Amino acid sequence: MRPSMTALTDQERHTLIDLANKARHLAYAPYSNYPVGAALRTKSGRIFTGCNVENAAYPTGICAERVAIFKAVSEGERDFEVIAIATPNGGSPCGSCRQVMAEFGLDTIVLIGDSEGRVVQETTVNALLPAAFVPRDLEK
Ligand code: THU
Repeated sequence: MRPSMTALTDQERHTLIDLANKARHLAYAPYSNYPVGAALRTKSGRIFTGCNVENAAYPTGICAERVAIFKAVSEGERDFEVIAIATPNGGSPCGSCRQVMAEFGLDTIVLIGDSEGRVVQETTVNALLPAAFVPRDLEK
């Protein structure tokens, strides 16, 4: 982790990872047994949480990060500051979630934590998805 990378305080990091872990406990993950939670803070200061929601038709399930992002967007928020993700083992966001994050800003901070509340990585969308395909790529 590079502590100088962001303006987040240690307290903010731990609060966000704790919120992500609280959301993780609501995960519906009977197939993978890999519950994930996310806490997304917008530039306006609102926090949206999400958990993974799986389905008997496996590909129909959705990740915690996308639930949090879609909740925010559906409530009129598109400017994100940080997304905290809590997984059982500090695992990293999937490619689909990275792409969805990239849609709303490459500078969003991504904070990854584990089930014990430890912060295991602090990075950005840009670092997780270099050379992302973004809205301006559709311009002709
Ligand atoms: N999952 C997430 O919700 N977020 C991640 O960052 C990684 C993977 C979910 C998808 C699936 O429900 C389970 O974890 C196992 O892949």
